[in-house]
Amino acid sequence: MGYKTKEWRSEMRVTVDFNYMMSESLGKNGIKKSELNSLKDKAEDAFNYVALNRGKDDLYMGWTELPYNQDAIVADILATAKEVRKKFKYFVVLGIGGSALGPIMAFNALKHLHYNELPQKDRGGPKFYVEDNVDPVRMQALLDVIEPEKTCFNVISKSGATSETMTQYLIIADILKKKGVNLPDNIIFTTDASRGNLIKIDNAFGGKFKKFVLPDGVGGRFSELCPVGLLPAAVLGIDIKGMLAGAAYMDSLCSRPSVYKNPALACAALQYITMTQGKNINVLMPYSDNLKLIADWYCQLWAESLGKAVDFKGKVVNAGTTPVKSLGVTDQHSQVQLYIEGPFDKVITFISVEKYGCEMKIPHGCEDIPDVGFLGGHTMQELIQAENKATAYALMRAGRMNYTINMPEINAFTLGQLLFMLELQTAYTGALLNIDTYNQPGVENGKKATFALLGKKGYESQKAEMDTAPELDDKYIV
Ligand code: PA5
Repeated sequence: MGYKTKEWRSEMRVTVDFNYMMSESLGKNGIKKSELNSLKDKAEDAFNYVALNRGKDDLYMGWTELPYNQDAIVADILATAKEVRKKFKYFVVLGIGGSALGPIMAFNALKHLHYNELPQKDRGGPKFYVEDNVDPVRMQALLDVIEPEKTCFNVISKSGATSETMTQYLIIADILKKKGVNLPDNIIFTTDASRGNLIKIDNAFGGKFKKFVLPDGVGGRFSELCPVGLLPAAVLGIDIKGMLAGAAYMDSLCSRPSVYKNPALACAALQYITMTQGKNINVLMPYSDNLKLIADWYCQLWAESLGKAVDFKGKVVNAGTTPVKSLGVTDQHSQVQLYIEGPFDKVITFISVEKYGCEMKIPHGCEDIPDVGFLGGHTMQELIQAENKATAYALMRAGRMNYTINMPEINAFTLGQLLFMLELQTAYTGALLNIDTYNQPGVENGKKATFALLGKKGYESQKAEMDTAPELDDKYIV
């Protein structure tokens, strides 16, 4: 691996500390080492399932190879991003779900928290927005702050059939046309190589749109490390080679089938054991505002991948646990009371940061008020880290399972590691549960019902069925 030095990479290694999951810390509330050891064969099977099927497009496992097979694509992305940065004042992603959560998360993780408010000379790139809803108020708000003719729109949709994304596209295309803009000058498509509606639109324009491929074997929620995430990141000046190198590094750290050697397999095994104990809530609590939106991205990855009605044998399993987003320290003042004293139904995963992006001294003052005076002379980093440790400790003392993902610092390389680890963890957990991690039949049903309600051709019978559903009874409306 040619990214920086071996020493640097090992200093930047992301690790998992699961002491507070185990009975040595938690007594009867913890997992016994023998219990973890007895999962050895099953964990090895899950590891082998993922290892043997790596890169298989028909199984939607193309994501495992993204750290390795994109040299030409990365070069194209970097060249395109350079042009976009020169030419445009704004960059807007139109997409939803797997086509949006990754770009938003990476933006939040690796750019200034008030990036859009910075002067252009400090930003260095265009203002950045991701529209992942069809709330008209939000769309109008976007239109109020951008100049469409000075905006590059990146429409990200594998199918080109997602109502939300295509609604946004229709609105933007109409505005651009009315302003006399040639659509391919201001719009980039990230989509399937040859199928889908964006390809049809491109064909109608004689193939003039700049296009990036969302590879066949990569599903939306596993797509951050392909052009879906890499193009927006590159436009923002993020080190995308570093992200991919971080993913490859984590892949190498997860190359053994042992829960004591492979951090993603360890997390999957812990989550699986706690699922079998009926712990149905999986909280992700980063102690960093930059990592706040990792929790949104992870919620989709976990929920859509593992929330499944049946297993591979067709047996009804209603698998999955409910992912919950939480932010340290903010949510210590809203959720942690419940985590410490409420039902024993949760596993808390902390993400801790060893070195924050900047340091902030707490000045001395109010020395005569002990509640305040003791803070002076410390730093904010010390405070946030102390609160993180203290919360993990308090949970442990209350017999509550928690483990910590440690990030030496937040940079492209460590973010790449974290993403790949969470993806592998999800894949291993799906394999442990013997379910299809990569489909989403539940979401498809909702999409079809929306088509029916809006009168889309081909959905007449579903519309008729919805129209004849039992009348809603007034007595249940208060
Ligand atoms: O993870 C997924 O597959 C979904 O969240 C999709 O990304 C989302 O539905 C958007 O689909 P598309 O890219 O086809 O517009």
